[in-house]
Parts: sequence; structure tokens; C-alpha cells
Amino acid sequence: MNRIIKKAKTLKGEITPPPDKSISHRAVMFASLAKGQSRIKNFLWAKDPLSSLNAMKSLGVEITITDSKEIIVNGKGLHSLKEPDNVIDCGNSGTTIRLLSGIVAGQRFLTVLTGDDSLRYRPMKRIINPLSLMGANIMGRAENKFPPIVIKGGFLKGISYEMPIASAQVKSAILLAGLYAKGETTLTEPHKSRDHTEKMLKNMGVNIIINDNTVKLSPVDHELNCFDITIPNDFSSAAFFIAGACLVPDSEILIKQVNLNETRTGFIEVLKNMGATIEIFNITEQGGEPVGDIFAKSSSELKGINVQGDIIPKLIDEFPILCVVATQAEGKTVIKDAKDLRAKESDRIKAMTSELKKMGVKIKEFEDGVEIEGPCKLIGTEVYSYKDHRIAMALSIAGVIAEGETTIKDANCVDISFPEFYSLLEMLQK
Ligand code: S3P
Repeated sequence: MNRIIKKAKTLKGEITPPPDKSISHRAVMFASLAKGQSRIKNFLWAKDPLSSLNAMKSLGVEITITDSKEIIVNGKGLHSLKEPDNVIDCGNSGTTIRLLSGIVAGQRFLTVLTGDDSLRYRPMKRIINPLSLMGANIMGRAENKFPPIVIKGGFLKGISYEMPIASAQVKSAILLAGLYAKGETTLTEPHKSRDHTEKMLKNMGVNIIINDNTVKLSPVDHELNCFDITIPNDFSSAAFFIAGACLVPDSEILIKQVNLNETRTGFIEVLKNMGATIEIFNITEQGGEPVGDIFAKSSSELKGINVQGDIIPKLIDEFPILCVVATQAEGKTVIKDAKDLRAKESDRIKAMTSELKKMGVKIKEFEDGVEIEGPCKLIGTEVYSYKDHRIAMALSIAGVIAEGETTIKDANCVDISFPEFYSLLEMLQK
């Protein structure tokens, strides 16, 4: 499905973004490992977390959904999963396949994990290597590069592991396998990635110690506590509207109850340093995370900046929309140290470079990032989403500030994380 976007005069109003995708995956997976009944409210009903929910059902977990869309998971404990009688399809979801690999690495049965055309070309050595070191029999297609992955788990040992890249998915896979391992599991990341797994497992009674970029998990000799959670709303989805408010003249958007976990909000730090007007208030706590309301408004004097190093994992999913913001900033914005973006749902460095060029942007592509020179008048044209939800949404915000009409090809991929994206965008234009 293609989507036509017209230039917006203004974006005004109040929105509640969808529930957090990362926490939705984890809630349904971790509740499946607990002993007892867990209740999950405000789950993200989008394709990616549904891949995790269906995967846990395939592993024999009893999951029911109430009329009010609450999920009830009847966890039977760490060792209660059953061998699936078919291959598990993880769809487009890197989080599902990588976290699940860690879980099934601890099971004494055979699991085969696969996914869609994009997922079957995403790198898996990053989990296959550490899980093999822990003692799992695990193999992937093309000499362990890609899914399908075949795993026969059981009898794991804890390891001490230096992660070559910062990745919450890899870190989580190792920690989940660590729940089944004999001995301590310790890992160190080059930069700190999102920490939802650590927080949630701690809350379930797992002994986890965090020291800068090092996480240590003690062997588990008891069942994990079940939990009730109301999932906070997703900062990464809110980011498109924060950018929209900053870029469209006379705009003001209030975004309600957003997860403000500091391992996720690097985009706000960067936008503020560029000169954007963004305020945060009503900070409370929900689902073990700080949440608050975000107010953003037109910011006409943005300046280009350098974005690199430790902040990159804190805005990794916001790279496509940050590129769009940079097109409107005075001077050069340089984003570096982000090579892993080439291994996301699409090669996001290549995708943003080629599509923003079509819209008239001066953008240079590096192996690990981009340089964008602004400000620049965007021209509406036909652009491609690469079937990547975040590329489709970022280009749509570019379309809202471009002259004329912008056609986003294959825009229905927004269903992966944000099915109501286009209806909210239309609502704000009224
Ligand atoms: C995620 C981690 C990040 C992020 C992805 C979700 C998670 O991936 O890009 O959208 O839920 O753990 P990496 O771990 O590959 O950086």
C-alpha cells in the first residue's frame, strides 16, 4: 500500500503514543518463564510483539486475552516450556528471534526459528557465538550468519563475555540463557544499551548487579516471580511527533505518558542541543519505568551538531527521524559510530541517504553514519520505505514539511510498531 502525504500547515493537539514495543515483547516472554499468573495491561497490539506472543504459545505457554485486551499468562515456571511441533515464525522481529534464542538455548529440546524476507538476512552470529560458548547447540543458515536458526539447548554454563557491539537484544539473549546456566554470567558492552531486561528480571527476583556497562547475573536456584504490569508508552513512536512538532510551523503537540527511560531518550538530548523547544512534565512511574508527558513546539532555529559515541545506542531507533530533523538545521549534522544501523529492518543508513537525496537533501553517506547539510527545502516526490516501519514514518514526517506531495511506497509496514500512525498524523493536521 502506498500513502500520499501532503504538506501540513500546522500540527496541533494531544496524542497518546502506542505502548512500548521493547517492553511488550519482554513482558509476554518473561511472564511465560515465571511461576504463577501474570497480567499485562497496555500491550502493543502490533505485528512485532504479536510474533513474541505467538512464539510463547508455540512453546506451550497458556496465554489468554480478556475482552478489555488484557493479557493473562499462566506461567508454569522456568522449566515448563514444551518442544514446539513446528518452526517458529518470528516475522519481522529481531527482538523476538534474538531473545527467544536465549530462552530456548536453556531447553533440552529442538527449536527452529525463522522470519520474513528481512529477518532472514539479519545477522545472527552475534547471538550464536555467545550462546555456543555457554554450551548450546546452535546453528544458523549460511555458516551461522542468518536465520533459520536451529537450537538444541540444555546444560548451559555461565560465561564472562565482552560484547563486540552495544545491543540490548544480544545482552538480553545472554542474560536469558544465564537464567538456565550453572555459574555466573557476566557481560560488558562497549556502550550501554537499553536496560529493560535487567530491570524486569530484577523485579522478578533475579540477582542482577549492574556496574557501568557491565551486567552480572547470579545463577538462579528458584522460580521467578509472576507480575502485573501496565506497559508505558513508546518513546520511539513518540519521537516522530516530537520531530513533527519541531519542524512544522505554528505547531504544538502534547504527547502523553511516555516511557522516559534514560537509555532510550538520547533523541531529546540531541534535539535540545540543536535548539528545539521540548518540555517534560508530570513525571511518575509505570511498569518500573519513569514516564512523563512531552510537550514539543515549532523550533525554527535549529543548529547542526555532531552525534556520536555513547549516545548512539540511546537513540539507535531514532536515526531515521533524526536525519529528517537535521535537514532543517543550519549547518552540518554529522552522525557517526552507528554502523549497526546497516543491520536493522533495512540498511537504514543507505535507505535514508537515498530517499532524502530524492527529496533534495545534501546528504553524504559514511560506513557508520551520515553528514547532512541544512537547512534545505524538501521537495515532495515518490520515496520507498524499504518495508521498514521507521523509514516509512520518518519519510512521512519529511513529507509533511515538503513542497507538494510525497508518496511513501509500501507504507503499510508501519503496522510493525505503530498501526495508528497515519490516523494520528491526520488528526493533528485538523
Ligand atoms: C531492541 C534493541 C535494539 C533496537 C530494537 C529493539 C530491544 O536493537 O534497535 O528496535 O527491544 O532490545 P539492538 O539490540 O540490535 O541494538
